[in-house]
Amino acid sequence: MGKVIAVLNQKGGVGKTTSTINIAAGLAKKGRSVLVVDLDPQANATSGFGIDKNALQSSIYSVLSGSVQLSQILVATNIDNIHVAPATTELAAAEQELVAVANRESVLKQTITSVPYDYILIDCPPSLGLLSINALVAADSVLIPVQTEFFALEGLGLLMQTVQRVQAGLNPSLKLEGVLMTMVDTRNVLSGQVIDEVKKHFGDYVFKTYIPRNVRLAESPSFGKTIFEHDKWSKGAKAYKQVVKEIESR
Ligand SMILES: Nc1ncnc2c1ncn2[C@@H]1O[C@H](COP(=O)(O)OP(=O)(O)O)[C@@H](O)[C@H]1O
Ligand SMILES: [Mg+2]
Repeated sequence: MGKVIAVLNQKGGVGKTTSTINIAAGLAKKGRSVLVVDLDPQANATSGFGIDKNALQSSIYSVLSGSVQLSQILVATNIDNIHVAPATTELAAAEQELVAVANRESVLKQTITSVPYDYILIDCPPSLGLLSINALVAADSVLIPVQTEFFALEGLGLLMQTVQRVQAGLNPSLKLEGVLMTMVDTRNVLSGQVIDEVKKHFGDYVFKTYIPRNVRLAESPSFGKTIFEHDKWSKGAKAYKQVVKEIESR
C-alpha cells in the first residue's frame, strides 16, 4: 500500500484541485504510480485531466454507494502512471445517502485498500461533510492548501478540530502532511503577513515552497492538461516540482 493524501480545505477556490492535479503530475514524472480520487461533485479534477464526465459509465459515486468496485471505475489519463477515480455531479447525493449507511465514515477506506499505487491523492469537496470525513479516515496524511488572502485563517480552526476528531477516533495514524500556501503574490504585503500568521500556527508544517499566483496554472485545466504539459518552464510548474520534492523527502 502506498501513501494516501487527502487534499482538504472546506473553503472553495483555495487551490485544492490545482494542487491535487499538479502534485499528482509531479509525482508521476518521477516515476511514481498515482491515483487521483475525485471526491468533489464539481468534478474539476476529473475534467482537469481531460476526462469527459458525460462519457463515463460509472464514477466514485457508484463505488461509495456499493454497486461497483473501485478498480472498475478507474480511468487512464494521457499521462503515464496517473489514473483517476472520476466524479460526476451525481456525487452530491452521496453526502446525504451515506448518512444511512453502516460505517458511513469508512466506506472510502474500505475500497481504497484494494488498489495498488505509490500515491493516492484525494481531491476533497469544499465542505467538512461525510465525503471529506471519508477522505480523512482513508488517508495517511492531510495536505491543506491555504490561499494567501485576508480571510485565509478563518476556518482553519474548524478544519483542524475536524482532523483532531478523526485522529481521536477512526484514524489515529492520520498525520498533517503540511500547509501549502497558494496564489502567493510576493509583491503584495498582505501575502507576507498571511504567511507569517499561518507559520505562527503551523510552524514547520508549512511547506517551504510557496505556490505563486500564476496564470499558466489557471489556464491549464481548460486544456485538460497539467502544468507540466501546458508550460513546464512556468513558475507554477517549478513550484509544484519543488512541493513534490518536499513530499518525497518527508
Ligand atoms: N497558483 C495559482 N495561480 C493562479 N490561479 C490559480 C492558482 N491556483 C488555483 N488557481 C485558480 O483559482 C481557482 C480555484 O482553484 P482550485 O484549484 O479550483 O481551488 P479549489 O479546488 O480549492 O476550489 C481556479 O480557477 C484555478 O484555476
Ligand atoms: Mg476543487
